[in-house]
Amino acid sequence: MIIKRPALALIIGASFAMSGAVIAEGVDLAADKCEHCHNANNDNEKVPNIAGFSALYFKDTLEHYKTEERPAGEKIETEGNEPTDMKMVAESLSEEEITALADYFATQESKAIPQEVDSELVKKGKKVYKKRCKNCHADGGSDPEDDAGILAGQHMSYLREQISLFRKNAEDKKDGRQQSKKMRKKIKKISDADAEALVHFFASQSQ
Ligand code: HEC
Ligand code: HEC
Repeated sequence: MIIKRPALALIIGASFAMSGAVIAEGVDLAADKCEHCHNANNDNEKVPNIAGFSALYFKDTLEHYKTEERPAGEKIETEGNEPTDMKMVAESLSEEEITALADYFATQESKAIPQEVDSELVKKGKKVYKKRCKNCHADGGSDPEDDAGILAGQHMSYLREQISLFRKNAEDKKDGRQQSKKMRKKIKKISDADAEALVHFFASQSQ
């Protein structure tokens, strides 16, 4: 044991140093390629807040944009940048770069976006959430450990769009955004009114 300990400390030290370097690469890449859209002000209602996501969900998601299991939204143009969508962004990144970005964004603190919600709809949405979504999206959709994104405090128009893509997919498996069989079963059961209530509920949740 006495002999092994320093060796173990060395290994741990080396892996910390390595992940530090990977995160530093993520900081530069994010500033260069992501933060003109995904910024701390969250000023574009089509663009989700991606701070604090689990690295696993993050990596899977970028992979899904590449394979089109997840359809990218419309191209967005920001000042000084060409119009792009998430498929183009994902395709421009190497595996190493995706890992660096995933590790970096996982260290960032996620904050709910302040929005006006309808309290009646929040109440109604909470009921639907408890019955059909809570098992996989814990704590109002705020727990990154679910590896299912962060729904709490996202822009309402983003939530509306993604729920609608899952509902399309529940109707026709080739359409919309791919999901697991289990989630599809729950999504299939919600009505238009439930979907809107869920949007208000998730938007009202703190992270
Ligand atoms: C031109 C604007 C733009 C740029 C640049 C951009 N994104 Fe996005 N991103 C979006 C929009 C809009 C969405 C949501 C709509 C969609 O699915 O396309 C999104 C969605 C995402 C999601 C999924 C979020 C979720 O809740 O599931 C991740 C992860 C992501 N982006 C990561 C990145 C990374 C990493 C970069 C930089 C390498 C980046 N984005 C650059 C606009 C952008
Ligand atoms: C059986 C587990 C399960 C259930 C039940 C479930 N989800 Fe999900 N959900 C997931 C997983 C896993 C993902 C990530 C999918 C992916 O990798 O694209 C996800 C992703 C999402 C996203 C996208 C997150 C993002 O950041 O873009 C939304 C929105 C969502 N779910 C809404 C719901 C709603 C609303 C319900 C209830 C009606 C529900 N889910 C029920 C497992 C589930």
